[in-house]
Amino acid sequence: MRTQVGIIGAGPAGLLLSHLLHLRGIESVVLERRSREYVERRVRAGVLEQGTVDTLVEAGVGERLKREGLPHHGIELRYGGAGHRIAFERLVPGRSITVYGQQEVVKDLIAARLAAGGDVRFEVDDVALHDIDTDRPYLTFGGERLDCDVIAGCDGFHGVSRASIPEGVLTEYRRDYPFAWLGILARVKPSSEELIYARTERGFALHSMRSPEISRFYLQVAPDEDLEAWPDERIWAELRARLETVPGFTLATGDIVERGITPMRGFVAEPMQHGRLFLAGDAAHIVPPTGAKGLNLAVADVRVLTEALARFFADGSTEALDGYSRACLPRVWRAQHFSWWMTTLLHTFESDDAYARRLQTSYLDYVTSSEAAGTTLAENYVGLPYEEETS
Ligand code: FAD
Ligand code: DHB
Repeated sequence: MRTQVGIIGAGPAGLLLSHLLHLRGIESVVLERRSREYVERRVRAGVLEQGTVDTLVEAGVGERLKREGLPHHGIELRYGGAGHRIAFERLVPGRSITVYGQQEVVKDLIAARLAAGGDVRFEVDDVALHDIDTDRPYLTFGGERLDCDVIAGCDGFHGVSRASIPEGVLTEYRRDYPFAWLGILARVKPSSEELIYARTERGFALHSMRSPEISRFYLQVAPDEDLEAWPDERIWAELRARLETVPGFTLATGDIVERGITPMRGFVAEPMQHGRLFLAGDAAHIVPPTGAKGLNLAVADVRVLTEALARFFADGSTEALDGYSRACLPRVWRAQHFSWWMTTLLHTFESDDAYARRLQTSYLDYVTSSEAAGTTLAENYVGLPYEEETS
């Protein structure tokens, strides 16, 4: 078998890349370890930046997103017994975010690929990469061989792609946080119209949503927390304790339909490429979820990679491909910093003393009262424009 681009992973990065390449007349095959049902049900991100929404709409996969996605024009930071709104419409006029589940994006992309006759293979569990530092790389899986011009490693943080790069090529940067997030999806009308990021002495909590009937919540918990230790009543009691901290706010509760624990870390591998292998999305970098950047970064990488591949297949020029990592990394590091900053601002660190807590409060007061500081948060949250990378 032969294709132009062999794509490993059918997450948002791999599927979007396959779709954008198809729109440019470039063939690809997507190899995914999990089943279609599994990837379509995997509950993860929910906040799409303006640029991500525009990318999906322009690519013709935004119809349901436009219909069912929930546009948001602000978020609330809740601490010290009060809520403070970060108003996007005032601070970053014309820019907003859309709440739409990652698994819905994945469903829409799979449907689009299959409708166009795309080759997406599920339950392929022994993918191996070969000869990536030659111009004839290939993939093997289940006794088959797929010859490619280029391989795109879109297989997430624990995938095989990054691990196939010879030792000594990559420099890895990482930061592990001393806590995790316990996330739930519940069948209950959201108690707030906008997302609430709450900082309390008991730890961080986030109130998000997926639809007018489904709410999404996260709780800061210990890094080695056992999900079994969190029966429904304990989850709701803790969410109430961390969110019902302002007068008049009552948290509505309901059936919990999904739950999981996510470790918190920042990670970047540089460069995001080696030979004919190009890493995109979580395969190359991850951020702690505070600030909702991971999925959006994956989309930004894929845009850059699509342009570079289009030039390569048009006239054989490798200039844009050679510059892929260099083009992506400024945005990657901006998101690393923003996510670290939001995480530090809102979580309880056991190592913090009273002085550190006062600094945290001071910064929260500044962000919620100064136009300049509020704008810093807002413009990063809604997402910085793409121009520099693609010009
Ligand atoms: P993935 O979605 O991880 O996809 C990789 C795919 O590769 C998977 O389907 C996997 O099964 C497959 N794979 C792995 N190994 C192999 C192999 N060996 N062979 C074949 N296939 C393989 N980001 C945001 O932007 N906004 C948010 O609000 C947000 N919230 C989040 C909340 C939580 C709780 C979590 C966990 C993450 C959140 N993120 C958020 C991050 C976001 O989910 C990820 O950044 C995003 O999934 C990255 O997409 P990806 O395609 O690069 O990787
Ligand atoms: C969601 C996740 C995030 O990490 C975040 O910062 C906001 C919302 C969510 O899943 O809805």
